[in-house]
Amino acid sequence: MGKINKSITELVGKTPLLELTNYEAKENIPAELIVKVEYFNPNQSVKDRIALAMIEDAEKRGLLRPGVTIVDTTSGNTGIGLAAIAAAKGYPFRVYIQDQVSEERFKSIHAFGAETIKLSDDPGVKKILDETGGDFVAAIRYLENEVFADNPDVVFVNQIGNPANPNIHYLTTGPEIWEDTEGKVDIFVSAVGTGGTISGTGKFLKEKNPDIQIIGVEPGPDSLPSEEHPQPEHEITGVHPFSEKIPREMIPPTLDQNIYDEIIDVEALDAYEVVRKIAKTDGILLGESSGAAIYAATQVARRPENKGKRIVVIAADSGLRYLSTALFGE
Ligand SMILES: Cc1ncc(COP(=O)(O)O)c(C=O)c1O
Repeated sequence: MGKINKSITELVGKTPLLELTNYEAKENIPAELIVKVEYFNPNQSVKDRIALAMIEDAEKRGLLRPGVTIVDTTSGNTGIGLAAIAAAKGYPFRVYIQDQVSEERFKSIHAFGAETIKLSDDPGVKKILDETGGDFVAAIRYLENEVFADNPDVVFVNQIGNPANPNIHYLTTGPEIWEDTEGKVDIFVSAVGTGGTISGTGKFLKEKNPDIQIIGVEPGPDSLPSEEHPQPEHEITGVHPFSEKIPREMIPPTLDQNIYDEIIDVEALDAYEVVRKIAKTDGILLGESSGAAIYAATQVARRPENKGKRIVVIAADSGLRYLSTALFGE
């Protein structure tokens, strides 16, 4: 029977698992390292899942009507996913974007007909960021309370506070991993931004098998802004700290802090190196956060107690999204 899709919304999810067999062999890794390749989504990242889920949730709740503008604040992939799905569904979309977002992302969002506003170009947001030393969550709270609130012409989808974000991973990402591995998965590793991926997927997997270890990845100290280095030389795009390194009020509500068993720090340069290695061994070009998650998974795989175990790692996006950045530029 033929199958012709009528909208990109039908192409979201059902991404493949790929075992990094050549990398395992070359690095003598004594466990199975399997990546869930989220760049198979129609706009090449895991964020297509939440973009579709958050828009359809707002439609169901009667908030989105023709002519209403969708707005969000995002490190880029969610912006691209929302821009594409808003275009396909006929809604205008405006995105407040972090300054360090790569050129490819800006251009992609504009190509879908969306409007972008740099966070630091909004005087109110800039003031909050300056006063709080770059507290992104506080900046978004300001936009939510002072700019979007009580405005019926905009719907703020708010990926860091929207339950539809973790929920779609509970409904799709988790079950896909479970089905494709036929329930044989020992460890799940994901980098954390909003926490939606790890929380929803982790919840599903733990309900199926409470023994599955859930591991969250955050940037190491050299890859985070500090007093000495307010702008670190190298960062892992889309990934934010969530351990005791940051105050509790900066942790997004979309992260379930009870879901993970362990947190592993990864430095950006180590993540980049893994991305470059895997491109050569297995012929797959992944993004920075995928490199960070695979670096962490490699450490976990080398622990004696994990010999022969199966580790599933989220590869959130493609290296093509970073061609102009330090990931490949040095
Ligand atoms: C490239 C990339 N990887 C990983 C993540 C983290 O995913 P989550 O927000 O579900 O924690 C993000 C989030 O923005 C991202 O853009």
